Amino acid sequence: MRTTDLLPSLCITVVLLLCSLVKAQKDEIRYQVISLITQTDTSMVVMVDDQHYPLTQSSESHIVYTGTAPIAESGYHYAKASGSSILEHEPFLRDPIESDTIYEFYNRTQNSWDIPSVPSLYDSLFNRVDTDLHLEGQIGTIHIYGNASGMDRMHTDIWEEIKVITNMTYIRGNDLFTFENTEIELAGLSSKWIPKLSYNVKISKDADNDLYGFRRLKLRALGMDPSYIRENTVYKSLYAAGIPTSQFSYVRVFIDNQPVGLFGLIENYKNPWLRNEFDGGNKDYKQGNLYQAKSSNGIEPDFAYLGENETLYHQYKIKEDPSEGEPSYQPIMGLTRFLANGSTHDASEWEKHFNTESLLRSLALEVLLGFSDGYFTLANNFYIYQNGLDSEQFVFIPADVDTTLGLTIVKMADMLTGNYSTFPGFNKRPLMPQLLQVDDLKARFEHLLQELSVHVVNPSVLDPVIDATVSMIRRDVEWDATLPRLSKFDWSSIMNDSEDPFGIGFDEDIYPLDRETIDDAMSHTVPVPFDLAVNGPVGYLSLAGVKEFIAKSNTAIKSFYNL
Ligand SMILES: *[C@@H]1O[C@H](CO)[C@@H](O)[C@H](O)[C@H]1NC(C)=O
Ligand SMILES: *[C@@H]1O[C@H](CO)[C@@H](O)[C@H](O)[C@H]1NC(C)=O
Ligand SMILES: *[C@@H]1O[C@H](CO)[C@@H](O)[C@H](O)[C@H]1NC(C)=O
Ligand SMILES: *[C@@H]1O[C@H](CO)[C@@H](O)[C@H](O)[C@H]1NC(C)=O
Ligand SMILES: *[C@@H]1O[C@H](CO)[C@@H](O)[C@H](O)[C@H]1NC(C)=O
Ligand SMILES: *[C@@H]1O[C@H](CO)[C@@H](O)[C@H](O)[C@H]1NC(C)=O
Ligand SMILES: *[C@@H]1O[C@H](CO)[C@@H](O)[C@H](O)[C@H]1NC(C)=O
Repeated sequence: MRTTDLLPSLCITVVLLLCSLVKAQKDEIRYQVISLITQTDTSMVVMVDDQHYPLTQSSESHIVYTGTAPIAESGYHYAKASGSSILEHEPFLRDPIESDTIYEFYNRTQNSWDIPSVPSLYDSLFNRVDTDLHLEGQIGTIHIYGNASGMDRMHTDIWEEIKVITNMTYIRGNDLFTFENTEIELAGLSSKWIPKLSYNVKISKDADNDLYGFRRLKLRALGMDPSYIRENTVYKSLYAAGIPTSQFSYVRVFIDNQPVGLFGLIENYKNPWLRNEFDGGNKDYKQGNLYQAKSSNGIEPDFAYLGENETLYHQYKIKEDPSEGEPSYQPIMGLTRFLANGSTHDASEWEKHFNTESLLRSLALEVLLGFSDGYFTLANNFYIYQNGLDSEQFVFIPADVDTTLGLTIVKMADMLTGNYSTFPGFNKRPLMPQLLQVDDLKARFEHLLQELSVHVVNPSVLDPVIDATVSMIRRDVEWDATLPRLSKFDWSSIMNDSEDPFGIGFDEDIYPLDRETIDDAMSHTVPVPFDLAVNGPVGYLSLAGVKEFIAKSNTAIKSFYNL
């Protein structure tokens, strides 16, 4: 071979060598992993092509470990080490990537999923702000820390209204936000009856803090729902129908040095929620009174007229004050007065008092999605909002949708006839019998039932969303089931000596409860397996599979209306 022949290939070799040198310098990326480590002698490492590189605890969050290491040739995974020995490692290899990782979660094989959306059937009725709070296909992580003694008291004295000031970190994708002076309290009444508690979160107003535009959030334990997907599915359906409501996303929750489980993150209807939902986040929005329906002592917030004494309207708890002037029960009293008269068959007259689309769409979905603890059944779990300062018109807003889609204390069979008149409570409440006397509104309601059944509450629409969501959360559902619960309340003491262990005092004469269904609910103590709870058939009076319920709801409407 002559040297002149060699020259070009030599050149190429040199160039390649140079290139690879330059490349080698660029070859480092940042690895970031979320992992809670409680042992002091344990550290995190990333193993790249069998070499391990130390990660250091992030100064921003002590459940995050970061460090630089080369781009992998064949793959990488995270591991826990003590000194130079590896204690355990992820039992799979992650594919090489060429730029910094997002915040990955230890021992989860996948960072994001493709989840089909539920196509919007109707445009949103109001002007919801654009927000990344609930990005589809990702599971965030929330770490609440810094006041272990306060937390412990809250988890012990669960009936006290204890608010604990802590710090909180939210991590998802490339985002990591820390909020100091965050107020945490236990949520709900019935949600305290289960050992996995739910929480309200209030991010402090200091320094214009917010999480993607929101400050008041709820962490839903999903503890009564063995499918973990009811609330997710219901909020998506409500959204597709353009109804004002929270959206939903999944988060993994840690409190101090303890993993607590898989939760649903939703929006609490507290400021700045109203302006976010009704006026695109506009800070100058002028809001009206927001009332929360709170059933108690047989006095039900079902829009019955109770006379002119404001005290009698306190079961409409004022949840948010109007922007100007004093909070008042007069507006809600005015609404019930209008309904009591019942003389108007004029749809435009109704429109002055109700945003009838939000009302009819919400109530149609109560029927189709089987709300067993909603307006019709218990006059519960909804808000009624005075649509702007001094407005005479009200907007119906559904809330806390866990007892739906076949999780029930009312008679399931009566929800699945396709005939809304048999839906438990439908004719007990003053609203619908009155409203259905108005021909236009009745026609609209029946049209909505059919259209929403065909295009939303339909297995061909919801099943693919459910299936994709189930594969996203499966590992976290398994993880959740292994975790100890934080409630330290001994509820056996109450269960043992009470006729009405739930202490709600729901009277079967007032509420359309079904004794057989309630007994059935109380008699099952072994959790229903995840896949069965999703798909069915479960075979209980008090519980159907989510997909099973959707199929039955859809079939019932189809045959009732000959669709
Ligand atoms: C990782 O998750 C699997 C379940 O997918 C579990 O069996 C295993 O124990 C976990 N490993 C570590 C190191 O946490
Ligand atoms: C929250 O974090 C700040 C800054 O690290 C710290 O000063 C404060 O003590 C923490 N609060 C609690 C309740 O631990
Ligand atoms: C911890 O929470 C308790 C209960 O709310 C509160 O009284 C206390 O001030 C908090 N401690 C800190 C350090 O913030
Ligand atoms: C309004 O109702 C409350 C509770 O029933 C009662 O105590 C009060 O006297 C009533 N006020 C008037 C003005 O009737
Ligand atoms: C019904 O309407 C009449 C006339 O519009 C009014 O005077 C009366 O107070 C209303 N009824 C109730 C219960 O308020
Ligand atoms: C629907 O149910 C109601 C109440 O049970 C009943 O009166 C009515 O006849 C039913 N309608 C049809 C079309 O079956
Ligand atoms: C409640 O009853 C169960 C079983 O009957 C018993 O094991 C438990 O000790 C009782 N709890 C209390 C606080 O009485």
